[in-house]
Amino acid sequence: MTIQVISGSAHPALSKKVAKYLGITLSPTENKRFADGETYVRIKRKVRGDDVFLIQPVCPPVNDNLIELLVTIDALKRANVGKINVVTPYLGYTRQDRKVVSREPISAKLVANLISVAGADRIFSVDLHKDQIQGFFDIPVDHFVGYPFFADYFKRQKIKGLVIIAPDVGAVDKARKMATLLKAPIAFIDKRRSAHNKSEVLNVVGEVKGKIAVILDDIIDTGGTITAAAEAVFKSGAREVKICATHAILSGDASDKLQNSSATEVLFLDTIPIPKDKMRKKIKQLSVAKLLAKAIKRIHEGKSLGDLFTWEDKLTQL
Ligand code: R5P
Repeated sequence: MTIQVISGSAHPALSKKVAKYLGITLSPTENKRFADGETYVRIKRKVRGDDVFLIQPVCPPVNDNLIELLVTIDALKRANVGKINVVTPYLGYTRQDRKVVSREPISAKLVANLISVAGADRIFSVDLHKDQIQGFFDIPVDHFVGYPFFADYFKRQKIKGLVIIAPDVGAVDKARKMATLLKAPIAFIDKRRSAHNKSEVLNVVGEVKGKIAVILDDIIDTGGTITAAAEAVFKSGAREVKICATHAILSGDASDKLQNSSATEVLFLDTIPIPKDKMRKKIKQLSVAKLLAKAIKRIHEGKSLGDLFTWEDKLTQL
């Protein structure tokens, strides 16, 4: 089967980087809107029988990017493609993964169904909001995690006196894994949420005094959670606060909140593009392109992805 990489319109810069690592060019598509706003996608190169990797994060504008992903999968399916591999470094809607009050949707499951029903054969993503979202799909899911990229970054800087902070109890597991890679202790924020997109920091549990605190989260959306966490950690006596988050959603004035926060540095992965007007001095992006390219190559060659997931002593392979 011939390999082809197709980019949706959500993150062409990442797709180009991935294709470059693979030594191929992106297969061209025509993406446009009808007068009424409906999405149209046509694959401009023959794909019959081919192993196609479609790169499209479901990031803002979330609904447009989701629909574009679905219609592109449909176009591929109807073109008799060999295999459709969906590469969605950020999968939107995954925060709605359970009913908290009655008569709510479980949108994460709905989106998983939509992608499968459209015709995807497998999907890979980075830091799904919860690991168990993998089970919402009945197709193979390859799930990458973001924290090794950040651990690698700090390891290279040889910073002493780090403490890794989970901004809520749900984030403790990943914070512990990152702390293990860096041989650092962990602490967490005891937080209670009063409404959607609003968070209330209560207290810092663990020793942060005099340390360089690295707060690790999967998503920064409005920036409320992480900046409140940074403030709490700073007030608890941390010498310096740094923020790491996989997905830079950055809604509204989140970039300004980060720039004006107590953190000295804010690291993201490039699973979502950060538009120029949202970039700020403190913000840096680390690229997942090389890892995606390695994974794509292995999947195409029918090789195991196991080695890519064994991070502990292989940080340098990033
Ligand atoms: C919550 O469970 C997530 O891990 C993030 O902490 C949250 O989505 C961030 O949202 P915001 O930036 O709007 O506070």
